[in-house]
Amino acid sequence: MSLNYKYFHSLLKFCPGLQLLSAILIPLLTMATESSIPAIIRHPFVVTFTWFYIALQAVLTWVFAPVPPPPTTGNEDLPRKRVAVIGAGITGVSSAAHCVGHGFDVQLFESRNKEKGLGGIWSRVNSTSALQVHSLMYRFHPSVSFNTAYPTQQQIKDQIISLWKRYNLEDRTVFDTKITSVKQNDNGKWIINDNEEQYGLFDGVLATVGVCGDPKMPPLPNQDKFKGEIYHSSELDGKDAKGKKVLIVGGGASAIEALEFAVKNGAAEIDVLSRSDKWVIPRNVLVQSLLACNIFGQETALSWIPEGLLRKFFYRDLQDIAPTDKGIFTQTPMANDELFDQIREGKAHWLRGDIVSLEEKGVSFNFRSKGVPKGGPGRERLVEGDIIVLATGFKRPSLSFLPDEVFEEPYGPPSWYLQVFPPKYPDICANNSTYVDAIGTVGNMHIGIYTRFLLMFLTDPLTRPTEQRMKTWIDFTRFMKRLSPTGAFDFFTYAELIYWYVFVMVVNPFRWKWALFVFFGIGRGLPLMVVERENAFRRELKKERKANKSEKSKANKSNKSTKTH
Ligand SMILES: Cc1cc2nc3c(=O)[nH]c(=O)nc-3n(C[C@H](O)[C@H](O)[C@H](O)COP(=O)(O)OP(=O)(O)OC[C@H]3O[C@@H](n4cnc5c(N)ncnc54)[C@H](O)[C@@H]3O)c2cc1C
Ligand SMILES: NC(=O)c1ccc[n+]([C@@H]2O[C@H](COP(=O)([O-])OP(=O)(O)OC[C@H]3O[C@@H](n4cnc5c(N)ncnc54)[C@H](OP(=O)(O)O)[C@@H]3O)[C@@H](O)[C@H]2O)c1
Repeated sequence: MSLNYKYFHSLLKFCPGLQLLSAILIPLLTMATESSIPAIIRHPFVVTFTWFYIALQAVLTWVFAPVPPPPTTGNEDLPRKRVAVIGAGITGVSSAAHCVGHGFDVQLFESRNKEKGLGGIWSRVNSTSALQVHSLMYRFHPSVSFNTAYPTQQQIKDQIISLWKRYNLEDRTVFDTKITSVKQNDNGKWIINDNEEQYGLFDGVLATVGVCGDPKMPPLPNQDKFKGEIYHSSELDGKDAKGKKVLIVGGGASAIEALEFAVKNGAAEIDVLSRSDKWVIPRNVLVQSLLACNIFGQETALSWIPEGLLRKFFYRDLQDIAPTDKGIFTQTPMANDELFDQIREGKAHWLRGDIVSLEEKGVSFNFRSKGVPKGGPGRERLVEGDIIVLATGFKRPSLSFLPDEVFEEPYGPPSWYLQVFPPKYPDICANNSTYVDAIGTVGNMHIGIYTRFLLMFLTDPLTRPTEQRMKTWIDFTRFMKRLSPTGAFDFFTYAELIYWYVFVMVVNPFRWKWALFVFFGIGRGLPLMVVERENAFRRELKKERKANKSEKSKANKSNKSTKTH
């Protein structure tokens, strides 16, 4: 049942207090009318928590979401700087919505067609895919609203498309347009694909190409010998696994998704062939948030505590699967509750080792003991299967359309300022596209924060960091994370945000006025007003200097003429 709130809305339009109330009440009423009474009686806690979650999101939207401009007009009192956004996944659409919401103009470029491109990777994975982190950690724009903890692919895609429409990005998006070059002209403006005539000039560039491109399907030894079917883990929609033996190659998040698919499809036997051990954490928002709160950004002397607790209370009898060779803050962990149950119930097996070759009836697999490295000695035997699912990941999209200088070592990606700005160009922001590993920290809030950094740099030249300062921040972060078992920028946590806060905000008084805007998007009018005042002040100062100069030169001239007389 759906409610018609049209009149209610127009009544509330003129009263901000009531607007918040309506923002909370409308989704709650909608959910209440959609939930059945038995569901509420059966799961009172879940339903209450979901109501609370929906209300919380309504408040977040009301406080933080920039107001979309009306469809026909821009905010004429704000400078209409232009930003090119490359990629129409969650990051591109959300960044573009932030730009538009703050009075900037954007042009979104997407290499794929609308069907496969809008929504990015979420338009190209299985309909059975769902979030592994809690959706509270995946609110990729302040106006996004999830009514479930772990939304499915379609629910996420729907949110992306409605955000895209809400901020009038439809007319500002070109599909089927792969970006191959981004060049700066003599006036510092950016030209896309050498085509100034068609796309015009841009003040800034947001490269939002993501980290998951085309499916990665490494050829396996003697692949032609295998008589069954081979699929990539992102192409399982419509495939039939009923009563079949499924072999899953890989041990990452996609392997878990493939395993869930095989279980749901009634596979007779499921074997996951994993060549390295990875951490699995519970699908629990509290545990994930606590882990994401490691502000040191690396393994610490205390990492044994979360690792020990996970082994004891989560892995329990399956501790053999838990990694012993790498800590939890070195690689993105998988978040799943069902995997261990499937293994315990005998529906699935987790096999550690290396693929030797493919045979007619399966995979010849070298079983390794715990602690023996990849390619090390083990015992070889055939693991039979009818279907092989390659959960071997995705190719990383290229950033090579950016100017050559941004790749110069030792300041190539991901070793950039705040990890997203190449030191030479604070007007390029590779939002969410340089990360390697993290625990639930990247994504959501960062999209807005880094976009607003770019908008600040574009609006107020006094806030732009010099190339040297950017490099100093990178060197400092490297120094602070020198003991980390991964490269300084390979595992992202809140540490970077703290160095960033000190280096970027605290040390530069010209940025203080921007703090609330950059962090929360609050006070959009204030910083621009201050910039206007500063400009007016600078103009006055210039005038005064000019007047002083001409007075001085007049005085000099008259001095000279009295001397010659
Ligand atoms: C099945 C699956 C589940 C996932 N679940 C989670 C999760 O639970 N939590 C989490 O944090 N992350 C998850 N991820 C990771 C996921 O990559 C990100 O969360 C997020 O969707 C990335 O969005 P994005 O916009 O940055 O990139 P993408 O969604 O990859 O979008 C980038 C877009 O840029 C376009 N593009 C690339 N190059 C160019 C170019 N040169 N010119 C023009 N366009 C270009 C691409 O076509 C693409 O549409 C998941 C990934 C997969 C595959
Ligand atoms: N719902 C979700 O949250 C979800 C679902 C899917 C994906 N994702 C995200 O999407 C990204 C990609 O995940 P992914 O699981 O697809 O890829 P991934 O994390 O890169 O894992 C790929 C796996 O395949 C193995 N592998 C690669 N090549 C191999 C080969 N030739 N032979 C044997 N094994 C091979 C890798 O082993 P090594 O580690 O030894 O190289 C690894 O275990 C991640 O960011 C992930 O978080 C999220």
